[in-house]
Amino acid sequence: MLTGGNKEYREAPQASETTIFPTCQESGEVARSLSSVKIGTTIRVGDAPPAQGYDTVIAFGALQKAGDCLDLDRKVMIVTDDGVPAGYAQTLAAQCKEAYIHTVPQGEGSKSLAAFAELLSALLEKGFTRGDCVAAVGGGVVGDLAGFTAASYLRGVDFYNVPTTLLAQVDSSVGGKTAVNFGGLKNTVGAFYFPKKVLIDPDLLATLDARLLSAGLAEAIKMAATLDAALLKKIENSVNLTADLPAIVARSVELKRDVVERDPYETGLRRVLNFGHTVGHAIESAQPGRYYHGECVAMGMLPLCGDGLRARLKAVLEKYGLPTSYDGDRAALVPLLARDKKRIGDTVRTVYAETAGTFAFMDMTPEEIGERIGRYL
Ligand SMILES: NC(=O)c1ccc[n+]([C@@H]2O[C@H](COP(=O)([O-])OP(=O)(O)OC[C@H]3O[C@@H](n4cnc5c(N)ncnc54)[C@H](O)[C@@H]3O)[C@@H](O)[C@H]2O)c1
Repeated sequence: MLTGGNKEYREAPQASETTIFPTCQESGEVARSLSSVKIGTTIRVGDAPPAQGYDTVIAFGALQKAGDCLDLDRKVMIVTDDGVPAGYAQTLAAQCKEAYIHTVPQGEGSKSLAAFAELLSALLEKGFTRGDCVAAVGGGVVGDLAGFTAASYLRGVDFYNVPTTLLAQVDSSVGGKTAVNFGGLKNTVGAFYFPKKVLIDPDLLATLDARLLSAGLAEAIKMAATLDAALLKKIENSVNLTADLPAIVARSVELKRDVVERDPYETGLRRVLNFGHTVGHAIESAQPGRYYHGECVAMGMLPLCGDGLRARLKAVLEKYGLPTSYDGDRAALVPLLARDKKRIGDTVRTVYAETAGTFAFMDMTPEEIGERIGRYL
């Protein structure tokens, strides 16, 4: 049974055990404590360790002017992939004293120990020292790989991130999680390692195709659904997504920043960012490469929310061409749910959202989640 005395949660499904993060109003506080953001702004993340206070600069044309706010007067290993327009890495390289561009194949396969080892070899070969740096120019794959390599090489060199997908701008570039995949599971080997600076240039989204843009938007919808009802409304009501994107990005960065500052190592509140991920990761494992990560998160939200919110989420996901039903074998997802990293004994800690802008943590068995998948996905 849900506890916590918040009437919004009384209709929620039975779960084996439920924890509501210290009063559900926590989520409201997260939203209220944030001021509105202007584009051309700097969002500071975590003045205390482990983030040590770094800035996320959000500005049109930021990449062209990277030299104004990053220390590029040294060796810079620019990591990108072969799906990112090559001009982006070259624009950064032109502003560096000594730049090397390391291009990996696009796709999740580059978040591997082999790609990590190749990048380490390149750093060694070019004689990178502790005073030099690594810069990611790409989506979440490049950011996670480059960040983990920066964390590991010589026990840590400076890391800059220039996210080029919407997903990376709203989510993966914020919060210091870096990793590669291992043993057939995602993000098994990694580190919390905060960048020295993040440059978000909304201009770089112009080359993304519609499907990738929507996949990134799914992560913004995820944050809006649990943390900020006003952001959800903005995304629902948008009549010109391109025009609204910079504000959506800035707001999402603020929301994630606020969560990460309170719980950098994901011991409590930060788990709210996993809304949609328990089921989403199972789908990703069941059908590798079939869907983008954000598409899996989109589907993954639907079994774990209240009826009213589900109707809204379905409508907004459909509006942006995101999948709202799973056409694979639902039963095959249950054993994959049991392999979830958030597993505690027989249950998996899931994030449940009854209404927009609220969330609760619920410990459910894979079978219970499977039952909801059968009903709602
Ligand atoms: N570290 C974190 O906190 C965190 C959070 C969420 C997701 N992730 C990880 O992020 C990864 C997914 O990131 P993603 O969705 O950005 O995927 P991605 O990095 O694979 O990029 C998707 C595709 O877009 C292409 N691309 C990138 N920028 C482009 C641009 N501006 N124009 C045209 N094409 C471009 C890439 O070449 C790639 O083919 C997953 O591995 C996921 O686990 C990490």
